This record gives sequence, C-alpha cells and structure tokens, in this order.
Amino acid sequence: MRRTHTCGELTAGNAGKGVVLCGWVDTRRDHGGLTFIDLRDRYGITQVVLNPEKNRVAHEAGKGLHRESVIEVSGTVKKRPMGTENKKWVTGEVEVEAESLKVITSALPLPIEISDHAQSSEETNLRYRYLDLRNPEMQRKIILRHKIVKLVRDFYDENNFVEIETPILAKSTPEGARDYLVPSRVHPGHFYALPQSPQIFKQLLMVAGFDRYFQIARCFRDEDLRADRQPEFTQIDVEMSFVGEEDVMEVHERLMQRIFKEFLGVKLKLPFPRLTYEEAIAHYGIDKPDTRFGLELVDVTSLLSKGSFNAFNSVVKDGGIIKAIAVDGKADFSRAELSTLEDFVKIYKAKGLAHLKIGDSGKVEGPVAKFFDEKILHELVKKMSAKKGDLVLVCAGPAKVVNDSLGFLRNHLAQKLGLIKPGTYNLLWVTDFPMFEWGEEEQRIQAMHHPFTSPKIEDLPLIEKEPLKIRAKAYDLVLNGVEIGGGSIRIHSSEVQSRVFRALGISDEAAKEKFGFMLEAFKYGAPPHGGIAFGLDRLIMLLVGGESIRDVIAFPKNKAAISLMDGSPSPVDEKQLRELKLRVELDK
Ligand code: AMO
Ligand code: AMP
Repeated sequence: MRRTHTCGELTAGNAGKGVVLCGWVDTRRDHGGLTFIDLRDRYGITQVVLNPEKNRVAHEAGKGLHRESVIEVSGTVKKRPMGTENKKWVTGEVEVEAESLKVITSALPLPIEISDHAQSSEETNLRYRYLDLRNPEMQRKIILRHKIVKLVRDFYDENNFVEIETPILAKSTPEGARDYLVPSRVHPGHFYALPQSPQIFKQLLMVAGFDRYFQIARCFRDEDLRADRQPEFTQIDVEMSFVGEEDVMEVHERLMQRIFKEFLGVKLKLPFPRLTYEEAIAHYGIDKPDTRFGLELVDVTSLLSKGSFNAFNSVVKDGGIIKAIAVDGKADFSRAELSTLEDFVKIYKAKGLAHLKIGDSGKVEGPVAKFFDEKILHELVKKMSAKKGDLVLVCAGPAKVVNDSLGFLRNHLAQKLGLIKPGTYNLLWVTDFPMFEWGEEEQRIQAMHHPFTSPKIEDLPLIEKEPLKIRAKAYDLVLNGVEIGGGSIRIHSSEVQSRVFRALGISDEAAKEKFGFMLEAFKYGAPPHGGIAFGLDRLIMLLVGGESIRDVIAFPKNKAAISLMDGSPSPVDEKQLRELKLRVELDK
C-alpha cells in the first residue's frame, strides 16, 4: 500500500504536505456541498474533506460511501478553519483535502455499532468479534495486553528466567478440572489431553537443571464457566529451583510492582500483606478476601448459643458456628432489602440471615432479639463494635456454609453500598493453605492445590491420621478479591510423594500409571523447587477495569463454551470419525 501516514499522526506541522491515508470510513457527513469523512485506523482518526469546488471527481467518489468501507485517500493537509478544531484528537487541528478517493472494499450495512460496544448484545458482539474489535476501546485493551506480556517477558529475562515451551498434546495433568481430550489417529483408542497447566513439565525442567523457567502458557480446562473463567486461558507460568515460599513471593511482588507502576502509575508498597488461610477464613469467610473495605466477620458462636433461639442452639449442638457482620448506619434497611440479603445467602446454602438493629436509644431490636437477655445483647454490641443506627447480620450453620454466605455477602454489600473507593488496588498473599480438603461431590479427600504440593514438614506426622489438619507450602496472590495467582513449593522426595498419594487414596499402581515418568525423574537427582502461575487474563481484566476476562481475550468463548463467531464446537465428518475409530452416540 502506498499510505504515507497513519490516521493518527498528522498535526499542524504537516500543513501543506501531500499525503496518502488508508483506513475505515468511521462516519460520513454532508454539509452544504462539502462532504466530511472521519477516516479511522488503529492509530486514530483523521478528518477528510471532499470539496466539489476543488475536486469534483473525488467528491463524486465519496457519494454513497458505506460506513466501514476501506478507502484510500490522497490529498493535502490543511489547517482547519478557526473554531472547527477537535481538541479530543491528536489530528484535530488539521484535515486532509482529498484529491482522489478510491474505494478499496465496500462494506455492507453493519450488524453492530462500532463506536458503541455496549449497545449491542454480547452475543452479537461475539458473533461479529472482528467488527467488535474495531472499537478503539477494545483495541486499547488488546494492545495493552501485548504491552503487559512484553514487560513480563523482559522482567523474567532480566532475572535469569528462561522461557521454554511445553507440549499442548500431552498426558493428563493434575489440576483437578476435567480434561479436553484429543484422539490419536495413529493409536486408536488412545488420547492426548490438552494441558490444564504445564505443571509436570515445568517441574521436569527443574530436574533438567534449567533453574528458572517461565512461559506465557495456554491452559485448557473443561469446567463450568463464569465471568472470570474460560475453557482456554493464559497463565504466566513459573518454576524456580532451590527456593522457599518467600523467594517465589519476593520475585513476584517486584513483578507486580513493575506492572502497576508502568500501566497504572500506581506505586505498590512491598512486601504485600500476608494472611494465613485460617486468618482469611476467620475474618473474611473466603480465601480470596477483598480488603478494600471493612465489614469483617466476627465469630459469635459462644455468645449467641447462650440464648433460647432454637435455630442457633441446634446448629451449635451439631458442631456448627455463628458469625456476624456489623453494617455501619444501616439499621434503617427496609424489610424488602433485608429479605433480598436473606435470599442472597441462601445461594450458599444458608438457612437464614437474622438481623438485629441498634435503635436510637441503643436498644437492640429485631425479630430474634427476644431470645436473648440484655446482657448477651450488650456483649454482642460490644463484640461487633456496633453503635446506634447500625445493623448486625447473623448467620448460623455448618462452618463452610456460614463462611461462604457471609464472605460473599460482604462483597455484595460493599458493591451495593458503594464502600469501595475507585482506583484502590489491594494485593495480598494468602498462605498456609490446607493440604487437603473434603470433596463433597466425590466423598473423598482431595488435594486443595495439586498432589505435588509440599506439606509443611512439621505437619507431616499427621498425614496418616488427621490429613485435613495438614497445611501446605502453598500461596495465592489476591487482587481486590480475585485470585490472580497461585503456587506452591513442591515435593522433591519420592517418599513424601508416596505418602501424599496414599493419603489421597491413589494407589501405587495408579500413581505409577499416571505420573510414573515424573516419579522416576525424581529418582535421578531432583533439586528442591517451587513456583507459581498467574491468570494473565484475570490480571489484565483488573488492570483495565473490565468486568469479564472475555473483554481482554481477542477471540473468547461464551458462557456455554461456544465460539459464536466460528461456531465451534461443531460436528465433524463421518470420515474423520472413522479414521479415529470413534463413534458418536447421543442421548435421545
Ligand atoms: P491454578 O489452578 O491455581 O494453579 O491456576 C493459576 C491461575 O490461573 C487462573 N485460572 C484461570 N483463569 C481463567 N480461566 C480459568 N478457567 C482459570 N483457571 C485458573 C487463576 C489462577 O490463580 N499449576 C498450578 C500453578 C502452580 O502450582 O505453579 C496452577 O495451574 O488466576
Ligand atoms: P424462623 O424462626 O425460622 O422464622 O427464623 C426467624 C429469623 O431467624 C429469620 O430472620 C431467619 O432468617 C433467621 N434464621 C433462621 N435460621 C437461621 C440460621 N441458621 N442462621 C441465621 N438466621 C437464621
């Protein structure tokens, strides 16, 4: 193409110059004989004028131009007449008076409005993603993503890390979601699994002696999707040799500091706060606390099981807990508002949400107040640091139900009450995760992180008898209530690894079948090692202030894991299935 400039660079200094521009017709306006075209490309917009007095042919060519057609314009840069400048554009002082206009490709009427991403449904935007991506705001996010990735690569390079690609067609990995499988044609009945993460390979790279590895790695997980989950997503994946938890955290605090300074102009203070898992659950109910606001959970089990409220007393008798949140100045919440909050906690299986209001006289009121004597209520007010006009919300039930309910209610209330100061970024580490958790669905013990995570050595003696009490050398990085990264120090001794597999109910044969190659590798000299992986899409979403990771992925899937643009997943030819020796049997 013979373009001399982009649509984002001509200024008054170019006046009088002959130029050629190419781009998309953003808008076209007719004004008393003159036609104005806003010509757009990735770099900006330049106004083009078609003046029939100066050039009849070019003016004619501009008639009937469809928006979003691609054109080539040659002409002369002119300073705009006084008072018609557009201060919002770099090119706002000038316009290009066209001497010729060539339509390179004409566009059909558009299914979506380029300038207004929010105006069309997400479905339509995803169906026509290549048009949606013409929106300058969308382009800004995708370009920012590129810049962040470049900074990340430079950072690791400066710190002696080596980027190494690991296989996409591989053996099933241990991240705990469902695998995407790829059938092998050469070996009928055999499958590759797409990696849920490069976990095993990065550990083998440590055995291989690379010492410090990183990769911008695509990961695949067949799980239920949410705003911050995609079936394929990208990790900043890292592994380091001869390190402990603090070493991995220290490097990544510096990385985050660099990213925040560069892209948001925000100076993060190091080290980031650290909360143990136990502390996080105690005060915030969940393991990814948003600490930008208060509303902390207070355990009132011993206090509120002393009254005559049966619902509370029976919960405690069954080993449950009672926790409460004080909401500043909200004693005036209406019955309807309280009932919405109660509905909210029911999503997390809570049986109810009792409320107490601290009245103007300091008296504690509410439907359940009558079950407690004055002394208990007074104690409660003190414990909650509540004052006149405050609302206290109480939930009783099994610990997990109460913590989830109030933990997520806390976030919900903060949104609803506008308690979050815009432009605040709270990063913190959650450490000392439990090694195992009870999986309700499968009714068995599961690894909370993954089975290669090292237990805290001092807890190891408990592994056979009380496995749920063991803590792991695992850590998550949380940004404004979103888990943006997680990692751990790994097991490097085959003896400890076998004990962990046994605790998980994985037999020696099963372990050998699944991870045998890795266990074997550890027998030939394995350095102590550990690492972490960040959800790149989530991190970028938070940096650009987006609501969904779909905003920062060029071609995402929708919530049903469908790519609306190309229609995948889709059926395949009989012939392809025959080659793979596969037969499809759909449920009626
Ligand atoms: P983990 O499973 O915690 O750890 O994943 C690391 C980070 O990846 C992001 N993430 C996702 N982002 C978008 N869509 C998804 N479906 C999705 N799932 C996870 C999260 C998460 O914190 N191999 C280990 C890391 C290690 O131990 O080094 C791992 O994959 O932000
Ligand atoms: P009920 O006597 O069941 O109608 O409940 C009276 C009040 O106590 C209602 O506001 C319920 O939401 C609340 N409540 C009942 N069970 C619980 C519970 N397990 N935790 C907290 N509040 C509860």
